[in-house]
Amino acid sequence: MKKIIIINGPNLNLLGKREPEIYGTSSFKDFFKELKQTYKTIELHYFQSNIEGELINKLHEVGFQYDGIILNAGAYTHTSIAIADAVKGIETPVIEVHISNVHARESFRHKSYLSANAKGVILGFGLKSYHLAIQSFL
Ligand code: DQA
Repeated sequence: MKKIIIINGPNLNLLGKREPEIYGTSSFKDFFKELKQTYKTIELHYFQSNIEGELINKLHEVGFQYDGIILNAGAYTHTSIAIADAVKGIETPVIEVHISNVHARESFRHKSYLSANAKGVILGFGLKSYHLAIQSFL
């Protein structure tokens, strides 16, 4: 069974409550239950942290064992060379995901330090972006 993990960064624990006009009204926990139901042929895991170093530790921990990483690093996407280095340093392919279309938003969201080392980037499809990322690994 393929092992895939979704890693969500800062403020994504507030999904459902945070800026619902941009990020929607479902909580990630409920959505993750649905994902697990939908993709029964893979072992799907989930980790969220608001702390940059914890995200890096998780990437190191799974990045030599799992088959795929789906990473929404939230605002760290646009700031973190350390997370970019972690993505570059591990073996497991990383798909960068964003719920919103960051290119249609403020210019500081147009830059991603992660994309250059990601296997691919999926953004702007709401929570469906995560489905598309999983499907890309299947
Ligand atoms: C986000 C986009 C980021 O710019 C923002 O900081 C987030 C969420 C998205 O999923 O659309 O926290 O990664």
